[in-house]
Amino acid sequence: MNTSRPAVGKYPVENDTVLEQTIARWVPESIRTLKAYHVPPADGLLKLDAMESPYELTDDMQQKWLNELGKVSVNRYPDPSCRVLKESMKKVFSIPESAGVMLGNGSDELIQIIVMLVAAPGRKILAPVPTFSMYEIISAAMGCDFIGVPLKPDFSLDTEKMLSEIRAHQPACVFLSYPNNPTGNCFDEAMIDEVIKSAPGLVVLDEAYFAFCQRSFMDKLDFYPNLVILRTMSKSGLAGLRLGMLMARPMWVEQLEKLRLPYNINILTQTSALFYLDNYRLLQSQSEQILQERVWLESKLRELTGLLVFKSNANFILVKVNDSSQFVFDQLMLEGVLIRNLHQSGTLLENCLRITVSTREQNLVFLDAFRRVLAAV
Ligand SMILES: Cc1ncc(COP(=O)(O)O)c(C=O)c1O
Repeated sequence: MNTSRPAVGKYPVENDTVLEQTIARWVPESIRTLKAYHVPPADGLLKLDAMESPYELTDDMQQKWLNELGKVSVNRYPDPSCRVLKESMKKVFSIPESAGVMLGNGSDELIQIIVMLVAAPGRKILAPVPTFSMYEIISAAMGCDFIGVPLKPDFSLDTEKMLSEIRAHQPACVFLSYPNNPTGNCFDEAMIDEVIKSAPGLVVLDEAYFAFCQRSFMDKLDFYPNLVILRTMSKSGLAGLRLGMLMARPMWVEQLEKLRLPYNINILTQTSALFYLDNYRLLQSQSEQILQERVWLESKLRELTGLLVFKSNANFILVKVNDSSQFVFDQLMLEGVLIRNLHQSGTLLENCLRITVSTREQNLVFLDAFRRVLAAV
C-alpha cells in the first residue's frame, strides 16, 4: 500500500481545482454563496461590539460557583431534559404553567431549530429589516427564501407592508426582535398583535434584550397558538455559558424537541446557570445598572455634534455619523475601542455604528475616544 502523501502546502494547483469542483458538486449553492457570521478578534481592545455584560463575579461569588462546578461528574452525560434547570427558569422568569420550554446552546441554536422545523424548498421566512442577521443567515443555510420587509425611516414597523407581504408570501415563520437589534427600539405592541393574527405560520418574538426593557409577550402565549418567545442569558452576564430558552405551546415544543441534539446543554452550563439563577438578583441589579448607564450615555452622545442618536430600549445604542462610519470605526480601533460598524450603503443603516453600553468607567473611555475621533473627521 502506498502511504506516501505530498507534504501539506505542496499539493499541485490542479488538486485545488478538483477540490473546488467536489465542493461545488456536494455543497448546495445556497451555502457556498453564504457569508459566515463574522466575529472580529478583540484582543487588547475595549470590547463594546457584542452586547456582553461588562461585569465579572466578585471573588466570594467566584469561589461559591467553583465549589458548585467541583461537584459535577464530567464523566457522565448531562441531563438531556435539563429538568432541574427548567424548573428554576420557570420560577425566575414567571413562565406560564401552560407553556412548553426548550433550551438551546444560545438562542442562536433555537433560531436554527425553529427554521429547521419548517424548512422546505420554496418556504419563506420573513422579518422586518434591518434586524438580527442570523435570521437571514440561518434561513438561507436551510434552503428557505428570506423576505426582508424594510422598517420605516424611524425604525417603526411598516405594518401595511408587513401584512401585505405576509399575505403574498405566506411565510412559514416571522421573526420579530423585541427590542430590535440593531436599531434598539421596541415595535408597537398593537402592530405586533396584527402581525401575529395575520401570519399563517409561527411568529417568533425574540426577547433577547428583555433584561433592559421589561416588555414581553410571554403572557400572550395563552392567546396566540402560533406564538414563540425566545430569551437568552447572554445579554445579562452569561454570554460565555451559551444558554437560550424557547417558550411556546407544548405541541410546538414537542415537534421542535425532535430536532434538538440530546445533550445540547452541557453539564457545566446547567450547573452554572442554576447557580446564577439562585443568585438572580445579582444579574438583575447589573442589568439595572446598565440601563442607567444607557440613559446617561445616550444623553452624553446627544451633546456631540455630527451625530444622530437613536433612542434605545436595549443595552446598546445605534448612532449615525455624518461622515464615513468605516473611518470612525477604524480610528476608534486605533484608540483601542471595538464597536460595530453596521454600514450598508443605500439602506437605513448607512454610516451607522452600534455601541454596547458598559460600566461608567468604560463608557467614559469610549466617549473620550469617540470625541477625539469625531473632532478629527
Ligand atoms: C435579537 C437577538 N437574538 C438572538 C441573539 C443570540 O443570542 P445568543 O447569545 O443567546 O445566541 C442575539 C445576539 O446578539 C440577538 O441580538
